[in-house]
Amino acid sequence: MAKTMTARKLDPEVALQCLVGMDVGLLLIGARGEIRYMNPRAGEILEVHAEDVVDASVCDLLGLSQQGPLGSEGQVWRTFSMPHTQILAKHGEKELTLECRVFPLRSRSQGDGGVLLLEDISESAEELEFQRNIDRFSSIGNLSAVIAHEIRNPLTGIRTTIQLVQTKLPEDSALTEDLDDTIKELDRIEQFTTDLLQFERPKISELSQANINEVIEKVLSHVALRCSEMGIQVKSELGSDLPEIPLDSDAVRQALLNIVLNALDAMPEGGSLRVTSSTRRYRTRRAVEIAIADTGSGISPQVMEKIYDPFFTTRGTGGTGLGLSISLQIVKEHEGRIYVRNRSQGGVIFRLSFPVPEEIGE
Ligand SMILES: Nc1ncnc2c1ncn2[C@@H]1O[C@H](COP(=O)(O)OP(=O)(O)O)[C@@H](O)[C@H]1O
Ligand SMILES: [Mg+2]
Repeated sequence: MAKTMTARKLDPEVALQCLVGMDVGLLLIGARGEIRYMNPRAGEILEVHAEDVVDASVCDLLGLSQQGPLGSEGQVWRTFSMPHTQILAKHGEKELTLECRVFPLRSRSQGDGGVLLLEDISESAEELEFQRNIDRFSSIGNLSAVIAHEIRNPLTGIRTTIQLVQTKLPEDSALTEDLDDTIKELDRIEQFTTDLLQFERPKISELSQANINEVIEKVLSHVALRCSEMGIQVKSELGSDLPEIPLDSDAVRQALLNIVLNALDAMPEGGSLRVTSSTRRYRTRRAVEIAIADTGSGISPQVMEKIYDPFFTTRGTGGTGLGLSISLQIVKEHEGRIYVRNRSQGGVIFRLSFPVPEEIGE
């Protein structure tokens, strides 16, 4: 009995140390959704200083609707707790996948409110999405290699037979020309299967230390004229203190160019293209992240599933459907990550991240 009593008594100073030291983000919120306290881990996750957000609305901070359960009209603060919920919090151009828990807090001195616990699970959410695309991609990739081989092998036999038949025909036979056309068609199939097999090969060669901003600048200067003709405004915000990372610059330029060209295609009536680079700190590692945002048509969920599939295109005969699958391969071979989201203001944002090797200092 005595033991329970002591366990219940918590020295306010110890309580504060717990809040400060804990590895989970914690926000104390007032009844109108205003932030009253934020512990250091929450500040780290959301990349804000506690003093800048005190009294600000938690919905504004997380980019959530005021009408939602956490808003000023929300019931959550007063009545019930919310089970583990994943939210996509928008913070400027950044997007975080947060696992949240909310429970109400009643305080005689400060009125009703709530506690919001946050964990940043972006890394695992992004990882899952990337792996899904890689798996999908690999199975389709392997399948196309099998198909290519299966088609190629009998081709040689067919070709030899046709040529043999041709030698048996009388010199003036009308069939000779038809058979020549047939051989041309066969050559076309053969070229196609060669391309398919080529597609299987690795896309990168040697990696050397480079600043990715130089690669981005090359891509942007390549499309500058086209953008101005199309009425597309280009904005770039390139991080000034990016570490150099191991890159095959030519391959990465190709990967970025494919994404930028898609962005331009999505904005036939003009719009804006925004490219940023920055260092992103995950829990266990650092990465250089490039974001390419457009104000185009966006991508529907049905299309989203397939965008990395080789030969998938919504552009009819205008597209090959290989751009993104090649970009995915290049990024993968750099042990990087690529993922895409529709933006709430329209258009999409592609993010590519490349790992910063550990031996490169902070
Ligand atoms: N920025 C974008 N906005 C809208 N749709 C896009 C964007 N980027 C890619 N897509 C979609 O992904 C598909 C596949 O792109 P990609 O692999 O480059 O092939 P392609 O450009 O030849 O169509 C496109 O056809 C388009 O539907
Ligand atoms: Mg393309």
